[in-house]
Amino acid sequence: MNSNLNKTISSEEAIQLEDKYGAHNYHPLPVVLSKGEGIYLWDCEGKRYFDFLSAYSAVNQGHCHPKIIKALNDQASVLTLTSRAFHNNILGEYEKFITDLFGYEKVLPMNTGVEGGETANKLARKWGYLKKGIPENQAKIIFAKGNFWGRTLAAISSSDDPVSFKGFGPYMPGYELIPYNDLETLETTLKDPNVAAFMVEPIQGEAGVVVPDEGYLKGVRDLCTKYNVLFIADEVQTGIARTGKMLATDYEDARPDILILGKAISGGVFPVSAVLADDDVMLCIQPGEHGSTFGGNPLACVVAKKALEVVIEEDLANNANVLGERFRNGMNSLISKTDLVEKVRGKGLLNAIIINDSPESTTAYDICLALRDNGLLAKPTHGNIIRFAPPLVINEDQMDECISIIESTILNFKK
Ligand SMILES: Cc1ncc(COP(=O)(O)O)c(C=O)c1O
Repeated sequence: MNSNLNKTISSEEAIQLEDKYGAHNYHPLPVVLSKGEGIYLWDCEGKRYFDFLSAYSAVNQGHCHPKIIKALNDQASVLTLTSRAFHNNILGEYEKFITDLFGYEKVLPMNTGVEGGETANKLARKWGYLKKGIPENQAKIIFAKGNFWGRTLAAISSSDDPVSFKGFGPYMPGYELIPYNDLETLETTLKDPNVAAFMVEPIQGEAGVVVPDEGYLKGVRDLCTKYNVLFIADEVQTGIARTGKMLATDYEDARPDILILGKAISGGVFPVSAVLADDDVMLCIQPGEHGSTFGGNPLACVVAKKALEVVIEEDLANNANVLGERFRNGMNSLISKTDLVEKVRGKGLLNAIIINDSPESTTAYDICLALRDNGLLAKPTHGNIIRFAPPLVINEDQMDECISIIESTILNFKK
């Protein structure tokens, strides 16, 4: 090993190394982070930033939350991985905890969000054949246009974003897309007896924080019940208090049949995801039919349990609700002061501003560079949309400081 890799490197050197030796599958904002604490991040040169992305809503509890890190450290020196070939002394307790918390009979533990989505899709297909009586290999799963649930072949097969799917065919059959926030089309589609499930994000995060009309999620729930179709909620980004309630589906009492959680379930400390369902669905999968070497490992279980406890103890859902409102008020007041901001949308602390320029322009990206220079990190999505999603541990004073950084950056921004 090259001992040079262990020395403290500059931001410039770090970027060069990534560029030369890493695949070019990301286009990061040019900032190199070397430390995180709470809502703050620091770069290699010691400059401090407000984190307004939270690793795409994975770090809801704030960076390196001491209680979560302690749980990680304590367990790391005792037992990390057994695989599911054997039982371990932590998994069952965690399973009881998380099923009690979210009100489901069973959980299937995985690692990443996209694996949670794959698991939900497999469960739905199996349920479709075993319980709904769909003829073999005919099961359909319906998705909403603009969805994002990861980069596996199944996930991109259900995507309508050419950047995701183009050049990676052939695609997974049995997927259909309908418009988001459109209950009429959903009802027509669900009449097909071969439909096993409708999988949807309560708010579309990657699409640019697209918030559906009030009543949409309840409508989805009712239609799925009416046509004996499983309602799969992808709460990987919206869950764990991000939108001001523990789950975004809680707003409408729209309990999904299959709930997918990821990201903040571990506070951004470890890849942990979870799929929750009742026995009627979950027991359709039998031993050997699904799994993962790392899924349900003791380290992940203690980290996830602690990360969820922190969300409850610190009442982060309420904080997201109150400060989200404050943030949107601040951003909305910008609309009258500049032509650059076209729209503000979001719920809790999952928000976005739409920049008044074409998605092909670099304006939103350039604003993010200016925000970085002013000590706040955010990233555009779909060209002209800037998502703002700070850790939920942010307080009022910090939020006001961030609103004024964003305001002055945008008001002073010159194309
Ligand atoms: C709604 C949603 N589902 C699934 C995923 C995939 O999660 P992961 O990147 O952990 O696989 C994401 C990632 O951004 C997401 O936003």
